[in-house]
Amino acid sequence: MVNQKNILLGVSGGIAVYKACALASKLTQKGANVKVMMTESAAEFVTPLTFQALSRNPVYIDTFDEKHPEKIAHIDLADWADIAIIAPATANIIGKLANGIADDMLTTTLLATQADVYVAPAMNVHMYAHPAVIKNMKQLEEWGYHFIEPGAGYLACGYVGKGRLEEPESIIEAIETHQHQEPFLTGRKVLISAGPTREKIDPIRFFTNHSTGKMGFALAEAAAEFGADVTLVCGPVAEKTTHPRIQRINVMTAEEMYEAMHVHFEEQDIVIKSAAVADYRPKLVYEEKMKKQDGEWHIEMERTKDILQSLGEVKSTQYLVGFAAETTNPLEYGKKKLVKKNLDAIVINDVSSEGAGFGGDTNMVTYVNKLLKQEEIALASKREVAEKILKFIDQDMKDEIR
Ligand code: CTP
Repeated sequence: MVNQKNILLGVSGGIAVYKACALASKLTQKGANVKVMMTESAAEFVTPLTFQALSRNPVYIDTFDEKHPEKIAHIDLADWADIAIIAPATANIIGKLANGIADDMLTTTLLATQADVYVAPAMNVHMYAHPAVIKNMKQLEEWGYHFIEPGAGYLACGYVGKGRLEEPESIIEAIETHQHQEPFLTGRKVLISAGPTREKIDPIRFFTNHSTGKMGFALAEAAAEFGADVTLVCGPVAEKTTHPRIQRINVMTAEEMYEAMHVHFEEQDIVIKSAAVADYRPKLVYEEKMKKQDGEWHIEMERTKDILQSLGEVKSTQYLVGFAAETTNPLEYGKKKLVKKNLDAIVINDVSSEGAGFGGDTNMVTYVNKLLKQEEIALASKREVAEKILKFIDQDMKDEIR
């Protein structure tokens, strides 16, 4: 809840600054202590006096405008803040923060703060989709910044699309929901597998699949933030882990993943198998590169072990959750896997539907527990989907559905 919280509202320069006025006002009305820091361009849109009146506090713009000789304002404000909100966040400020640039009061303060930082972007639709902006936002997310996605609609630049600053009420709601999350997994051990496996043919070639590990990494980050001690067994992926409570174990093949999962299985409370394990591997692995020859090359494949099934066979108190990636009849096939592999729950992923499945940053899934109760998780970022999955698991464990 924002009541009694010290909130630093960072306002950067875009037409959406007018909405930041409403945000400052609503936060103050909810009992927050709000101090506003503006960039010089923000002050071109709305005067500091407006924010001063709405927040009932002085407004800060210039690093060198030190009002109290006994304090250094930007450090003092960085320490004072419980929560920092950047709204609107322009492509420029996102770019500066992602690169550690501190050339004005707002960026300097944000670099110095230990507060939870929420970023609400607002910009032109093409700017928001630019690879540089996407890369910068990803970097900030990796460092623990929380993004409040812009809405879609008519933009001041005349375009219709994504880039409109989220409404002040929704920004506050998102922050309150996030702040309110209990660390309900504290003391729990969670084992997660993520990514593809890679099955060698020769020193040059291998079989694999499209998995990027994003869903499994989102689960690992969310579980760690909810207080769990996480062991993450992952195949070859580009994703990075940031949370100190995540122990990462890199594997390459299905066999290595099998070994790692079984080594760590016993002491776990929750085990989630989101990896896309190769079901087959070449029967023969060539030591030397296979030179090309005329005609066809037939590679004989053999089955790998079904890791999830093998865990289902030995499980005692562990809450075991599988994933099912399907393209047809997802619910029917998913439920069959739940029973066949002796799982406590399954997350069914229709990888053929838009916005779901491999590679992207979003997903939509159906969570089915052992009583075959279905919970739909609508299209959202993989992180949000991960949080909902963990909450369903926690609820089912409390209700002793296993
Ligand atoms: N899985 C596993 N080991 C394998 C294959 C799959 O542990 N060798 C796990 C996956 O991590 C996932 C679940 O089993 O949690 C379902 O994977 P999926 O690929 O959807 O199904 P399969 O069991 O491989 O069945 P099918 O290929 O018939 O769809």
